[in-house]
Amino acid sequence: MQKCSYFVLAALLCFITIIGSIPKNANAEPILIRFSHVVGEKTPKGVGAQMFKELVEERLAGKVVVEIYPRSLKFTDEQALLGLLFGDVEMAAPSFTKFRKFSRKLQVFDLPFLFESVEEVHRFQQSKAGQELLVSMEDRGIKGLTYWDNGMRVISANTPICQPADLKGLTFRIEPSYVFQKQYEMFGAIATQIPFGQLPDALRVGIVDGYENAWSNVLSRKMHFLRRNFTEVDHSYLGYMVVTSVSFWSGLPDDIRMELEEILAEVTEVVNKLAREKAQSDRKTIVDTSDVTVITLDAEEREQWRQALLPLWKEFEKQIGPELLDAAKASKSASK
Ligand code: LMR
Repeated sequence: MQKCSYFVLAALLCFITIIGSIPKNANAEPILIRFSHVVGEKTPKGVGAQMFKELVEERLAGKVVVEIYPRSLKFTDEQALLGLLFGDVEMAAPSFTKFRKFSRKLQVFDLPFLFESVEEVHRFQQSKAGQELLVSMEDRGIKGLTYWDNGMRVISANTPICQPADLKGLTFRIEPSYVFQKQYEMFGAIATQIPFGQLPDALRVGIVDGYENAWSNVLSRKMHFLRRNFTEVDHSYLGYMVVTSVSFWSGLPDDIRMELEEILAEVTEVVNKLAREKAQSDRKTIVDTSDVTVITLDAEEREQWRQALLPLWKEFEKQIGPELLDAAKASKSASK
């Protein structure tokens, strides 16, 4: 018995020595980065993922390959976040609403009317507090790499929505956000969480009456043919955190990690510029090519929504953290 364990130990040591002596990169397979997301290839995030792949495979040819899984082909965002931890994917870019199992702080992006323009969002993201958010989930194994924009969400339903009271009795698809849940329930609507990939079908079969999303997502899933009433309340910003796992990222050779970070910075600029353009051009395409009604609110009407929704800031202050909320408010007031 004793002899047998010595034999096993010796064999193990021998194996480790042989493995250890193989030069790390000799004939090494390229590193594979599987990037999962849930939207179409023509959206800002879809374009960003593709550009990331092309630049990586050009500048790190033979060293890194990128596979993209768009349109929830393999995973919903929530599955992808777990997949990062289980080694099923290496990158994802979920909207902030999808992180609630990892951090309640990111709910700061869900609060209605906290960010009323992309400029306010950027000011916050670039602040110390915004940068700290990127590393705030590392103890849970998730590492934020950068932020990508989409745009302001618009509300869409089968009946015109002008004031909060118009939501009463309607069923709304929401992203998995406690803030969004409260927001709809406080107006007497029913909020139901449905993954983005299933939203068009949920509208088609009538499981939900409405939803809110950015123009680029509406166009790419052709949802303007399913619900024709849109309301621009400008209460809510849709953006993303591009994430990886701490273990994958820290296990990369330094030169490759640095090159990936440089590429991501370059892609981020392009994505954010494109997001700004598409917020206008995709809206225009929808208006020009289909029979939709877009309600824009005047200052007084908008104020009515704002006053109704403001109590949510207080309600979520404790979960988000008062200091973080103050930092977000400071980015806001700096724009006034
Ligand atoms: C949604 O679930 O509606 C969005 O987060 C989808 C996306 O990635 O833009």
